[in-house]
Amino acid sequence: ALITLRQLLDHAAEHAYGVPAFNINNMEQGLAILRAAESCDAPVILQASRGARSYAGDVMLRNIVSALAEMHPDVPIVMHQDHGNNEATCLSAIRHGFTSVMMDGSLEEDMKTPSSYEYNLGITRRVTKAAHAVGASVEGELGVLGSLETGEAGEEDGSGAQGKLSHDQLLTDPEQAIGFVLATKCDALAIACGTSHGAYKFSRKPDGDILSMATIEAIHRNLPSTHLVMHGSSSVPQYLQDLINENGGDMPQTYGVPVEEIERGIKMGVRKVNIDTDCRMAMTGQFRRLARENPSEFDPRKFMIPAMKELEDLCRDRFERFGTAGNA
Ligand code: G3H
Ligand code: 13P
Ligand code: NA
Ligand code: ZN
Repeated sequence: ALITLRQLLDHAAEHAYGVPAFNINNMEQGLAILRAAESCDAPVILQASRGARSYAGDVMLRNIVSALAEMHPDVPIVMHQDHGNNEATCLSAIRHGFTSVMMDGSLEEDMKTPSSYEYNLGITRRVTKAAHAVGASVEGELGVLGSLETGEAGEEDGSGAQGKLSHDQLLTDPEQAIGFVLATKCDALAIACGTSHGAYKFSRKPDGDILSMATIEAIHRNLPSTHLVMHGSSSVPQYLQDLINENGGDMPQTYGVPVEEIERGIKMGVRKVNIDTDCRMAMTGQFRRLARENPSEFDPRKFMIPAMKELEDLCRDRFERFGTAGNA
């Protein structure tokens, strides 16, 4: 059944677990994620970016999620707008059945220019008021996502600031977070701690200089009952880089967020863990393997079946390691 982000994260906080929020764009991703959730008795957050909404269409996305809920009646599902850029995006998502929205006011509407604190606070407060009036939840973001190594936002498509960002912008200010949550009344707060979107997060296995778990700890100390959200949480596992590169791919060596760091974050109040890149790599790795091993194959299902299996295995691993398993 569909539930709100607030309902799910309140339960997660009470029972000290985290919930992966997987991005979906199509039926196959939905099927794989829900098979994993059902098999380990986990609730799940499905999130659609603005790109996903224009790729599949709102009517298709709504019906995919409604079909998944009907097929898996025992799995609590949150349908969430990822990185809403303005009020219209958030409100139209709610009209299309999303139970939760992210109002990402850390950037201007163009999703490229870092915004002022006043702009972020105002727009997040307005969206929260409107969403709460119809029973939907809101995630806000304070701080700009990007690399502490390079000062860059990460992936060029999708959401991401442009130009060099300062450490001040790249790490959420724990003091400012108090006022932001109080004034906006948002249900969950996305924070910036050195992660960025996409595959190329870190040039080496991250330590405290480039992945600031201390920032999360300080925010949690100031706001112990606020549900924290970690964006850019793909681990970019070596086995998926290898699967892609051994089958004709060309991804330069890279490092993501180690799953054990996310497990530490969950102990410090992280409740929603956003993962897209790992899911993309799981499917693409199997597409490539299938295409290389069976060059005469042209039935898309033959590509989709192992791709869904690889994604299902990845999701199950995250449900188990985040403590989500057993909490449906
Ligand atoms: O925030 C970025 C997510 O990975 C979604 O990416 O905008 O390409 O769908 P997208
Ligand atoms: P990744 O690119 O690390 O998967 O992050 C996804 C994300 O934060 C979506 O909002
Ligand atoms: Na989000
Ligand atoms: Zn994100």
